[in-house]
Amino acid sequence: MPISISKRHLLLLLLVLLLSKSNSANPNPSDKLTHIRFYFHDIIRGRNRTDVRVTKPAVASPAAFGMITVMDDPLTEAPDPKSRLVGRAQGFYAAADQNELSLLMAMNLAFTAGEYNGSVLSVLGRNQPFYPVREMPVIGGSGAFRFARGYAEARTHSFSRDVAVVEYNVYLMHI
Ligand SMILES: *[C@@H]1O[C@H](CO)[C@@H](O)[C@H](O)[C@H]1NC(C)=O
Ligand SMILES: *[C@@H]1O[C@H](CO)[C@@H](O)[C@H](O)[C@H]1NC(C)=O
Repeated sequence: MPISISKRHLLLLLLVLLLSKSNSANPNPSDKLTHIRFYFHDIIRGRNRTDVRVTKPAVASPAAFGMITVMDDPLTEAPDPKSRLVGRAQGFYAAADQNELSLLMAMNLAFTAGEYNGSVLSVLGRNQPFYPVREMPVIGGSGAFRFARGYAEARTHSFSRDVAVVEYNVYLMHI
């Protein structure tokens, strides 16, 4: 009898160990949750233009379907373009919806100052620029952002004929 009790205890112990192991694997306690905020400046006209239109829209319409633009846009700490530069958004956006303006964004957020200097986040998502909030997945990163996953929220801060300033809030899990 004492032997069967200890066997039962052993089984229970194994079960507890197994359960606690599967719990600790998700989420990993060493993962960090990081929030980063910056302002993206897309200058679409003038001498200081930061993007180049590669293809024109296939047809003249507000959806601009078929337009592809490559950008190298400054990212700053505050909405003021003269505030501290923290990085650059490098990549392209393509108008990929036939009915409304909706962009496929494919870009690297390359940090060039501050604690993330040298680290990069890769974003791939859908951006409807006239919507109040657009959510785009962060699909990976390098440097401080190895194994990163998360999302970016974009909100237009101001928009003129020449420049769009967009507030980005990025939420990440990484090691
Ligand atoms: C271009 O940038 C420079 C330096 O920030 C600024 O002095 C100048 O006014 C800008 N030019 C235009 C056309 O925005
Ligand atoms: C960012 O890192 C690069 C490469 O290490 C370095 O040359 C540069 O001075 C750094 N920039 C800032 C603002 O710290």
